[in-house]
Amino acid sequence: MQRVDSTNNFLRKELSKSKPIPEGTVIMAEDQFAGRGQHNNTWTSEPGKNLTFSFVLYPVFLPASQQFLLNIAVSIAINDALTQIIGSACKIKWPNDVFYQDSKIGGVLIENTVAGNHLKSSIVGIGINVNQVEFADSIQNITSLKNITGNSFNIRDLMTGILEAIDHRYSELKEARNENHYGLYTGNLYRFNELHKFVIKGAVQNGRITGIDETGHLVLDIDGNQYHFGLKEIRYIL
Ligand code: BTN
Repeated sequence: MQRVDSTNNFLRKELSKSKPIPEGTVIMAEDQFAGRGQHNNTWTSEPGKNLTFSFVLYPVFLPASQQFLLNIAVSIAINDALTQIIGSACKIKWPNDVFYQDSKIGGVLIENTVAGNHLKSSIVGIGINVNQVEFADSIQNITSLKNITGNSFNIRDLMTGILEAIDHRYSELKEARNENHYGLYTGNLYRFNELHKFVIKGAVQNGRITGIDETGHLVLDIDGNQYHFGLKEIRYIL
């Protein structure tokens, strides 16, 4: 698709129509002019330069209380695919940013609907900075595959690689063969088990990421005690 406000919005409208859309339907935009990120942030992307796409899943097998397992599966899959291009410095920044050293290359916005105790549908939106080399001065700690490697990439080939990796990890999750997912997630987690400063409730504190709990909260060791944080409760200092 040439131009759309947000590929996530597009699929959400399709999902609300009476005719069901098949699982795995993918929408990619050359120019996404009102992309959305987590926390109600915007996601900006120079037209034609980057990967912005979304797809639909029906993870009805997942209890709503375990929905973070889908974030884990998607995050490790993107990490699998991009590590092949930029090596092991590719990391997952909790909950599902794609990082290289201290800069963001991409992000994921997963929007779930729930029916009863289980997930009903998920729109998984992924943005990866690919061939864009300049970013607005107002955006800090941001980079692209081209800035990292010096090379340009075919955007469709890259998307295919990521989708294949997600297909693999999603199948493992669906078939309950995901016992290694948590270890792969934490093993590739940005700043895992390292002492760093974080902003917690407005104050700077030293802590060490020790894991993720079953609800997807970040677990931090602060002075020997374990604390659990949601997305709005903690900020990294980059
Ligand atoms: C984040 O880092 O906050 C998440 C960014 C997600 C951006 C992607 S681009 C494709 C899809 N459509 C959107 O509007 N957002 C996601």
